[in-house]
Amino acid sequence: MANSTPDPSTCVLDAFRISIAERVAAALPPLTVEQAYSGVDYGKKGADFTIALPRFKLGKPEEVAAKVIAQFQPDEYIESLDPDKSFLHFQCKSTTLIRDVLTQVHALTHLAPDKVPCYGSNSSGKGKKVIIEYSSPNIAKSFHVGHLRSTIIGGFLANLYKTCGWEVVSMNYLGDWGTQFGLIATGFEKYGSQEELEKDAIKHLFDVYVKVNKDAEADPDVKVEAARWFKRMEDGEESALKNWRVWRAMSVKKYAEEYDRLNIEFDVYTGESMVGKEWQDKALTRLEEMGLIEDVDGAKIVNLEQWKMGKAVLRKRDGTSIYLTRDIGGAIERYEKYKFDKMIYVVSSQQDLHLAQFFKVLELMQFPWAASLQHVNYGLVQGMSTRKGTVVFLDQIIKEAAQVMHDQMQKNEEKYKAVVDPETVSREIGITGVKIQDMAAKRINNYTFNWDRMKSFEGDTGPYLQYAHVRLSSISRKNPHLLPLPPPSQIDTSSLATSPHAREIVFLLGTYPDVVKVALKTQEPSGVVTYAFRLSHAISSAWEVLSVKGEEDLEKARAKMWMFECARDVLGAAMRLLSIRPLDRM
Ligand code: ARG
Repeated sequence: MANSTPDPSTCVLDAFRISIAERVAAALPPLTVEQAYSGVDYGKKGADFTIALPRFKLGKPEEVAAKVIAQFQPDEYIESLDPDKSFLHFQCKSTTLIRDVLTQVHALTHLAPDKVPCYGSNSSGKGKKVIIEYSSPNIAKSFHVGHLRSTIIGGFLANLYKTCGWEVVSMNYLGDWGTQFGLIATGFEKYGSQEELEKDAIKHLFDVYVKVNKDAEADPDVKVEAARWFKRMEDGEESALKNWRVWRAMSVKKYAEEYDRLNIEFDVYTGESMVGKEWQDKALTRLEEMGLIEDVDGAKIVNLEQWKMGKAVLRKRDGTSIYLTRDIGGAIERYEKYKFDKMIYVVSSQQDLHLAQFFKVLELMQFPWAASLQHVNYGLVQGMSTRKGTVVFLDQIIKEAAQVMHDQMQKNEEKYKAVVDPETVSREIGITGVKIQDMAAKRINNYTFNWDRMKSFEGDTGPYLQYAHVRLSSISRKNPHLLPLPPPSQIDTSSLATSPHAREIVFLLGTYPDVVKVALKTQEPSGVVTYAFRLSHAISSAWEVLSVKGEEDLEKARAKMWMFECARDVLGAAMRLLSIRPLDRM
């Protein structure tokens, strides 16, 4: 990673990197501290930090190394330097490292002026606004796992950008418009039930849709009728819109409850229905002027073949709009309303072409902000069916995850009895399992969902992560005699410096702000997941060796407890970044 601007006030490891950079620059004129700093990487071969000398292009590595070595003096930050061919390996002074990292984690978690824990945050996005659009299911159609992935990845990105100082507008762009609503309206007259609708709007509308679709396959008149109905909707006829309005409101209400369960939030619920006509028309006019529009039987088609993006319908023969046109108009309206610095669409890679097409049209329309649109895509999920069959609704996924986890927990009768609120706990762990499986690998990879793996407490799974957090949370409950801990300046951490386990944990805690920065650069949750597991493993290996319980030396017990408390704070922060609610008990 090329290092960003150092800021020891939010990332204390920067202070160690600066110390390395200063001495390297001093030994190697005309190298500047900034240049040297950008060459300080995380360590190889057990070192804390490593510099690859050839990158500075200052001549023979051995000679360059010799100059640095000749001037090296250990100090409060850096305790040793170890040359290795063209590399220089540096070791931080353990006592300083441990004291400074724990002090910073503690201060930024518990002493933040606005009381919001902020260890790991940075202000790189200060003053900038990003719109992040995600989830975006279609009303009356199924909520498939693709929507679930968008929800999970989008929720993570919204947290991530906030953590990096951006103003975030999170947006759900519902598929709440289009010919299918003409179809449902037609079907509702025959199959609709007010009672069913009120019970579960999402499910009932889907049922109606499935039935009327069957009718339409058998009888072309149904389709004609539906198209006519949708045309009336597009023309703004109130009588055609009345029911639709109710359906939409009820579906949004139900969705909002389910997102809440998933710990996912939206600032704005918008949808295809909200996109005005004005810009859709202007887009067409502009593309016509550019000679890119072909008229096929009255339908308007844009030809993007010179950019290898094929041809796409922009307007149907009856004048009604389609998905693509609405995306074009929608983006322009969003810019007018929000003046964003960046807009992200979290949509499956199956729609790569669609996104490329509408970004291209906006670019052709010469909107300077078109360059700030970004498609964050992801691969397919296979095999996520519940015991009852294929997943159609979001609440099925949540229920199944909770149930699978509940069954698993009941297998250990004794433990199960000790859980205060097994319903909530199993649901939270189940949701964690689903999310972790989704975010564990690079977004673009396809993966096969596995319920057995999801519910396992062993291996790199959601339940394991929750367990690690619960275990850390139990320390203060089990050692009340150590509480409250004295202020950090009065805790003697020197006893930790001799433990390789403690040092490893603390160094990892120190790297968290960098994990956040890398995630922002790659827009990948997987690095954060990997980090959470590395930390959990380090904690687990240290558990027995550094046990707080049974430590008779009060000073040592306090130091260990403080370290585990900080570990809990950072693990919790990483989990929250991933939209997971860390549990304190299970
Ligand atoms: N509702 C669409 C679907 O389910 C996804 C919308 C993605 N966002 C967008 N601006 N096109 O396929």
